[in-house]
Amino acid sequence: MNQQMWLNLATQENAAAIKKHGIRIFGPAAGAQACGETGPGRMLEPVEILSLTSELFSTGTLAGLHVLVTAGPTWEAIDPVRGITNRSSGRMGYAVAEAAAEAGAKVTLVSGPTALGDPQRVTTIRVSSALEMFDSVHAHIEGIDIFIGVAAVSDYRPASAASQKIKKHADTLSLELVKNPDILKSVAALSSAPFTVGFAAETENLETHAREKLIEKHIDLVAMNDVSATDIGLDTEDNRLLLIDRHGKSELPQQHKSQLARALIQHVAEKYHAKRTTQDSRRARR
Ligand code: C5P
Repeated sequence: MNQQMWLNLATQENAAAIKKHGIRIFGPAAGAQACGETGPGRMLEPVEILSLTSELFSTGTLAGLHVLVTAGPTWEAIDPVRGITNRSSGRMGYAVAEAAAEAGAKVTLVSGPTALGDPQRVTTIRVSSALEMFDSVHAHIEGIDIFIGVAAVSDYRPASAASQKIKKHADTLSLELVKNPDILKSVAALSSAPFTVGFAAETENLETHAREKLIEKHIDLVAMNDVSATDIGLDTEDNRLLLIDRHGKSELPQQHKSQLARALIQHVAEKYHAKRTTQDSRRARR
């Protein structure tokens, strides 16, 4: 719409009347107009319309909650050009972050190095090493209701990184590795820990390993990848998950990671709200 038409009293009164009846109006945006004038009346960018619309339609299972997700691999530097990493693409974690935003949550994503663009409606923080990821997670953990650790964090890092590129001299070269902190476990150990979800990738005895992880890391839910099949899991479009908590297990069948992430988020939302209800009724009995 031309800016004079939009600003005209009759249009403004009509827009106000529509709003009074509970109708949401998106825009208009302001800027250059086809007629050569400048001002309000432009259509919003399609991504903004999409974002505002999906906010309206968000089923809201996580409305009002703040979710922190870690994703991707980490990069543990050996020298300025070499490092230890793994095949995680970050796709699963990014899909989980997007699904949580779709479900109405405010989402922070702490991501290791990936080739993916920042997900829509998610605050994305890029880090490189496990130590940086640890620091970033703890810098943003206050007020978080649900923590989902999807990142494939390197278990070990070189004891020290060479400041210059290591030259080829000796026939053998030993690297001393030291253990990285467990980010998920450290979050679950906080006095006001959020609802914590861990991912795990195993090739055998999935359920036994998942139960061990639940107890060892003191977390609420484990999402287990079966990486014994080469066509699904790491660095692929599809995945399937086995979800295990203290009360039981359920399976999310093989599907595209974005659909799988939505199903996972619905499961997490149910478990989160069930835990909150139990905690509230315990408090009320005291
Ligand atoms: O013990 P494991 O590495 O199999 O556990 C995997 C889970 O723990 C994932 O959720 C992963 O994001 C998290 N993790 C972590 N920090 C580490 C290692 C794993 O947060 N140093």
